[in-house]
Amino acid sequence: MEGSEAIRPDKYGAAGNGEQWKDVGRFQKTERRGDTFVLRGERGGAAVLFPAEGIFRIKFFRKGEPDLSATVAIDPAFRQKSESGIELEETGDRVVLRSSLIALEVDKSTFALTVRDKEGKVLCHQKSLAFHPRSGVHALYDMPQDSHFYGLGEKSSFLDKRGERYTNWNTDVYAPHVPEIEALYQSIPFVIHMSGKTSYGLFLDNPGRTEVDMRTHAESFAMGCSTGDYDLYFIAGPSVKDVVTRYTSLTGRIELPPKWALGYHQSRYSYMDQEEVLELARTFRDKNIPCDVIYLDIHYMDGYRVFTFDPVRFPDPRAMMKELRDMGIRIVPIVDPGVKKDPTYPVYREGVQQEHFCTRLEGGIYFDEVWPGTSAFPDFTDDRTSKWWGDLHSFYTENGIEGIWNDMNEPAVFNESKTMDLDVIHRNNGDMKTHEELHNLYGLLMSKATAEGLKRQLDNRRPFVLTRAGYAGIQRYAAVWTGDNRSFWEHMALAMPMVLNMGLSGLPFAGPDIGGFAHHTSGQLLVRWTQMGAFFPYFRNHSAIDTLRQEPWAFGTETEEIIRKYIGLRYRWLPHIYNLFQEASMTGMPVIRPLVLEYPDDPNVTNLCDQFLLGDSVLIAPVYRPDTDHRAVYLPEGAWFDYWTGEKLEGGRYILASCPLETMPMYVKAGSVVPEGALTQHADDQTNGNVTFHIYGAAARTGFKAEYSLYEDDGATYDYRDQTYSRLNVCLEGKEGGLGLSYAYAHRKYEANRSLLRFKLHRPDFAVKEVTGLASVSAEQLQEGAEGWHVDGNGGLIIQTADRSAGASWTIETAK
Ligand code: NOJ
Repeated sequence: MEGSEAIRPDKYGAAGNGEQWKDVGRFQKTERRGDTFVLRGERGGAAVLFPAEGIFRIKFFRKGEPDLSATVAIDPAFRQKSESGIELEETGDRVVLRSSLIALEVDKSTFALTVRDKEGKVLCHQKSLAFHPRSGVHALYDMPQDSHFYGLGEKSSFLDKRGERYTNWNTDVYAPHVPEIEALYQSIPFVIHMSGKTSYGLFLDNPGRTEVDMRTHAESFAMGCSTGDYDLYFIAGPSVKDVVTRYTSLTGRIELPPKWALGYHQSRYSYMDQEEVLELARTFRDKNIPCDVIYLDIHYMDGYRVFTFDPVRFPDPRAMMKELRDMGIRIVPIVDPGVKKDPTYPVYREGVQQEHFCTRLEGGIYFDEVWPGTSAFPDFTDDRTSKWWGDLHSFYTENGIEGIWNDMNEPAVFNESKTMDLDVIHRNNGDMKTHEELHNLYGLLMSKATAEGLKRQLDNRRPFVLTRAGYAGIQRYAAVWTGDNRSFWEHMALAMPMVLNMGLSGLPFAGPDIGGFAHHTSGQLLVRWTQMGAFFPYFRNHSAIDTLRQEPWAFGTETEEIIRKYIGLRYRWLPHIYNLFQEASMTGMPVIRPLVLEYPDDPNVTNLCDQFLLGDSVLIAPVYRPDTDHRAVYLPEGAWFDYWTGEKLEGGRYILASCPLETMPMYVKAGSVVPEGALTQHADDQTNGNVTFHIYGAAARTGFKAEYSLYEDDGATYDYRDQTYSRLNVCLEGKEGGLGLSYAYAHRKYEANRSLLRFKLHRPDFAVKEVTGLASVSAEQLQEGAEGWHVDGNGGLIIQTADRSAGASWTIETAK
């Protein structure tokens, strides 16, 4: 229930409190300092830099000299860069800064900004920017009739954010996750604007409270901040993909995760003791349900003291870990930032003695309540403290742990404001700031400290960090789960646009709690959610204390059977999913994508978010309503194959898909290739590296081409950075009289443990006469590992070959 306080006048900005917002005033002069252009106005100015092609940074300042330091959001590799050859042109009414791709025009009388492309077309127009006399900056940008908005990280509501308004202020929202909630756990003040064929991005690099408002004004959208600087990056397209590529070059891309982190994860608040954990692991193995990770929630600790195990519940963690590892299962324990105030607790003592905790300006540690009771909070803004915190993780790594779950790191505090007091001080490596100014960085800096600490300890093995809170750039350090959702069908549906927009915001490794965290799931909801989750980048089932159990077998054998099948599918598709992660690490392209990313010219998909693409060619249409055995699916242009029935369907239309409980509709685009591996029980099982390349809709005509480039490495270490990886290129091409099929290793410093490669052509539009150079073999001979070709009952062609470094090519001759 809310009282009248909810409509206090001071919430409504200038209109409510009568204080005058002031703009920069008339332009006065330009000063050039190396790569920086300082544009001065009557009441302030702006410094402009061009860090890379298609990107400029404009930082507004009120008076004096601009501070050009950048936040941790900007990838260090990028901080030093700048594009050369920027031209400065000044006429009577404007100043123009021209880079290779874009030009920034400043109107001398109003300081309004216009960004144009090389042809002079207007991309973006900042019509006004004003400073609040005390703090806060607010700017308005043109919003044409056909504007669509994407990105903004972890937000509720639909895919296209037009008509929404959001606050970026990391908040522990146990409930409710509804469209009205403007702020959740993550803050990514990055918005992609798409209008017609042109897109651009704006990233407001301010870790205090920021706002993006696409609702209030009819023809403009607003972006503003409450404290600190208006430090804006303009990011050119023209396509949404271009914007994502550039944004992720600026804020960094994920590191290739260890393969085990891409498997199925099982969690609960909490698995209470060592025996329960081991029993859980044994059940997965007995039931042949693949699983890579079990999580330890807060009850594993001794009185919720981080870096401890409860001696009664977990008397021998090392032995537990060993037994789990023998089963191929890893433990990921939760680590919260709150350190219990307890003079007998070494972490607390050391933190106090070495001055690692956040303080008040007047002196004294800032204490507040979280799980352990009164707690102190490490000041991760100081490198010294981050190093200390990272080093503390040897407590876990010495027990065989390689992954850490960071929770409550907004930071969440059990007080009215739900977070740290705004006047708490951060040392910030000597540049002291208040918590109000740096709030949204806390979670990112905690995960950074954790990831860096683990790396120091893991001896070349890749760590895994999961976080709830974060800021732009968090992808460089951690995967993200979307916090405390509920076991509601609506929350399953909500996860799609949320995770898709996170992907467009540079965060490809994300996912919700499968089955829902709070409230009670049902067998049907768990099945449907697991089906969807099997194709989400991050795949963890997690549930809250006092809710119905939701392990895969919790609702009887029918649901267990379906869940086993979809988790199994995830594992068989791991070569493809890992490939997409590798692509994300190189280009920033998300693993799962909204259709608008691949089909930007299709007006039907601008806000389509109850289905998505895995990569660019597999369409997943989850069922997110109860008792539903049919759903509408939109197939974009081109031909598609029903993954389950093999039926060929023409796209550019809606179809009604049949979806009994055991079926989640899935479609593969004609002319595309999906590699599939062996069904293993854990992702780092390397006993069978055989791969089948499934090729859909092969056509015997010149011009047809299906290609795939498979990346492989040991899935565990950083050796790939020293070239220890392989790249296998597969190509099927139509030509005169048949088709050419080839595979070739473009690079092979890593050798997967396999003897065979298979190619399966699903529903080719031809009958096969022969495959030159290969024998025709029976299905049984294929099973036994013979080389050769075989046509199955559906007319599908299977080619099996020994995997040779030299590669091979064949001609598929078609029957007349
Ligand atoms: C809040 C987290 O969001 C949830 O996932 C976790 O189980 C609880 N904290 C308890 O640690």
